[in-house]
Amino acid sequence: MDDTMTFPAISPALAPTPATTSYSRSNPFLAELVRHDRLTGLGSLKDTRHFVLNLAGSGLAYVPGDSLGTFGANSPALVDEVIGLLGFSPNAIVNDPQGRPTMLRHALLHAYTLNRANRKIMSAISERIPQGEQRNGLMEIVDNSSSLGQYIDTRDYVDVLKEFDQVRFESPAAFIAQLSPVTPRLYSIASSLDAHPGEVHLCVAVVRYDTHGRHKKGLASGFLADHTNMFVKNIPVYVQPSRAFRLPKDGARDIIMCGPGAGVAPFRAFLEQRIFDGAKGRNWLIFGEQHRNTDFLYGDEWLNYQKQGKLHRFDLAFSRDQAQKIYVQHRLLENARELWSWLQNGAYFYVCGDAKHMARDVHQALITIAEKEGGLSPGGAAEYVNVTLMKTEKRYLRDVY
Ligand SMILES: Cc1cc2nc3c(=O)[nH]c(=O)nc-3n(C[C@H](O)[C@H](O)[C@H](O)COP(=O)(O)OP(=O)(O)OC[C@H]3O[C@@H](n4cnc5c(N)ncnc54)[C@H](O)[C@@H]3O)c2cc1C
Ligand SMILES: NC(=O)c1ccc[n+]([C@@H]2O[C@H](COP(=O)([O-])OP(=O)(O)OC[C@H]3O[C@@H](n4cnc5c(N)ncnc54)[C@H](OP(=O)(O)O)[C@@H]3O)[C@@H](O)[C@H]2O)c1
Repeated sequence: MDDTMTFPAISPALAPTPATTSYSRSNPFLAELVRHDRLTGLGSLKDTRHFVLNLAGSGLAYVPGDSLGTFGANSPALVDEVIGLLGFSPNAIVNDPQGRPTMLRHALLHAYTLNRANRKIMSAISERIPQGEQRNGLMEIVDNSSSLGQYIDTRDYVDVLKEFDQVRFESPAAFIAQLSPVTPRLYSIASSLDAHPGEVHLCVAVVRYDTHGRHKKGLASGFLADHTNMFVKNIPVYVQPSRAFRLPKDGARDIIMCGPGAGVAPFRAFLEQRIFDGAKGRNWLIFGEQHRNTDFLYGDEWLNYQKQGKLHRFDLAFSRDQAQKIYVQHRLLENARELWSWLQNGAYFYVCGDAKHMARDVHQALITIAEKEGGLSPGGAAEYVNVTLMKTEKRYLRDVY
């Protein structure tokens, strides 16, 4: 079975109950993909996509700053390989996570995580594998929590079932019982509902990598990129409102938006909304990616807004277009004086994207700027950013993951 096949009707576990009820995580709306563009160009190391989903008839509403929850599905090729290794019929009847009977192949496509092994399966295999070399190797991994963590981190169920091919599960149900149910993924909404009635736009960095000689992909981003068909209502979605990542109520306030990579998504929504509302405040966007030629996500849109005077400041950090890396925080530091004056003038500062490295470095850059431009002591600068901006005035807002 190839990877491009159409998915069968959604699992009863994910099927929404009809009309009247409002759609939610436990009752997602089946949305239809109406536009699918690749944002990164030929030769890029990234695969970042723009998706437009039709929400018409769902009653779903959102505001800039909200996220869309989506349930992915496993690659049919991965599912078929797992079933082949197990030696069961794809039509065997098993229960889905809600205890409803469904066919094995259908359950593995839609209801359980297959692209990353879990700890439970390793114990289950150790209980079923015959004495011998494979069992000894497995026990060494299973008996040490940190090596078990490392082991499963880079492996899917095909990797595991191939490596321990002496294991036999007594029934499809015994295998299914070890799996983790699919959980939804969140995507920052990249559109304003006022600008695009009935639609929701997403900017998704597709997760792709190779481990143990095999190609892997993210459950939800891989599903959206590789296994969705246009104009078919089969993408389970719901709106996840943000608690605090919101535009200022007062449209006269300036906003500074720092969003490298797919982190730029909510700022497309912010800008569309500010333009729709005729907000008088200035808009400053700081965007970064690897190469201008291939990774300038929504580049034409930003440049047009800039030309029209709707994007008042626009700074770019293409990290790999020169010998030394240039990141968004370098642009913040280069423009420290102006940034400080915007902040002193009451501007809101937003950051979205990678939590682990980028957001941490941007946070540090803000503290450095408060110290240098505000003449604050190191402690005073940290207090200004961590307490005054973030907690008291709530105008340093983060959507990082
Ligand atoms: C509030 C919020 C908003 C978000 N908004 C966006 C957005 O707008 N756009 C966006 O693209 N993402 C966004 N994300 C991230 C998104 O939710 C998913 O986490 C992301 O798309 C990956 O999900 P997936 O199902 O495709 O991958 P998964 O199936 O979850 O796989 C990802 C996992 O694969 C493993 N992995 C990845 N690379 C490698 C590697 N090289 N080697 C070994 N293992 C690896 C890691 O364990 C990683 O955790 C957001 C997250 C949150 C919480
Ligand atoms: N949780 C998940 O499973 C998951 C999956 C996918 C994406 N994400 C997150 O989604 C976000 C967007 O991913 P993306 O691939 O579009 O973009 P990204 O990985 O954030 O990369 C965008 C730009 O940021 C640069 N960068 C790297 N380290 C940085 C740092 N410390 N400070 C500032 N900039 C830095 C990159 O440069 P270089 O590449 O040249 O270093 C690149 O130019 C990221 O936060 C990523 O971690 C998470």
